Amino acid sequence: MAEPILQTQSLTVTAGSRTLLRGVSLSIHEKQVFGLIGPSGAGKSTLLKCLNRLLELTPALKVSGVVRFHGESIHGPTVDADALRSRIGILFQQPIVFPKSVFQNVVFGVKHLGVIQKSALPEVAEQALREASLWDEVKDRLHQPALRLSVGQQQRLCLARTLASQPEVILMDEPTSALDPKSTEAIEQLIVRLKKTHTIVLVTHNVRQARQLADQLACICLRDGAGEVISQGEPCDVLCSNCAPEIEAYLAGG
Ligand SMILES: Nc1ncnc2c1ncn2[C@@H]1O[C@H](COP(=O)(O)OP(=O)(O)O)[C@@H](O)[C@H]1O
Ligand SMILES: [Mg+2]
Repeated sequence: MAEPILQTQSLTVTAGSRTLLRGVSLSIHEKQVFGLIGPSGAGKSTLLKCLNRLLELTPALKVSGVVRFHGESIHGPTVDADALRSRIGILFQQPIVFPKSVFQNVVFGVKHLGVIQKSALPEVAEQALREASLWDEVKDRLHQPALRLSVGQQQRLCLARTLASQPEVILMDEPTSALDPKSTEAIEQLIVRLKKTHTIVLVTHNVRQARQLADQLACICLRDGAGEVISQGEPCDVLCSNCAPEIEAYLAGG
């Protein structure tokens, strides 16, 4: 099998004397949807933020273990955290929209990186909005406040902002849990389309979504108060009828 695009080995996160995540080892392969499920508080968001070094913006949390992107440690001395975060983008549960225009929101990240000429920004914005299936809905209101968009449109706007930086990997943290069924379906269809060109790590609470969208799945549960990967593999195996008791309890809503 090809080398994983992202790999963690013995990843542990602590907050003072408390262990939040313990010994997480995962291999994520290119152009797949890698699903992460597990109960609230198990450390799914924490794990996601380790994968593009967002976690280090919270100084109280300490990370040990290794994260490799294309085989190289993301903590290496030559790795620039901003550049890494543009190659491994993230989409949060609640859309994070700035009180600026639709256009300014889309180009916010690429402008910050300073790698694209100002004259090219309209084209970059159009392409990203098309990729996020939002162009037709916003093409006549690019310079209006983005906060006037519906929540479902705001989430696709955030996806467009991430896509504008041309990431290879997109980390999605429960991207549909704040959305109505129609907006959820729009994001799910986008995930299916985007995995042809991107690798997606999808945290979801929705077992149907995990079954339907994930090519590989890992379940994180609490053991002795810390999140551990209890099982990983094909979704049908992870969600099988004789799985680990923690997964069974989770699936049963316990
Ligand atoms: N900055 C922090 N300081 C201390 N504990 C934190 C911090 N952020 C998250 N945690 C704790 O880490 C655990 C895992 O949280 P999280 O990754 O958000 O779980 P999940 O996404 O699976 O619901 C929780 O117990 C949470 O309270
Ligand atoms: Mg979370």
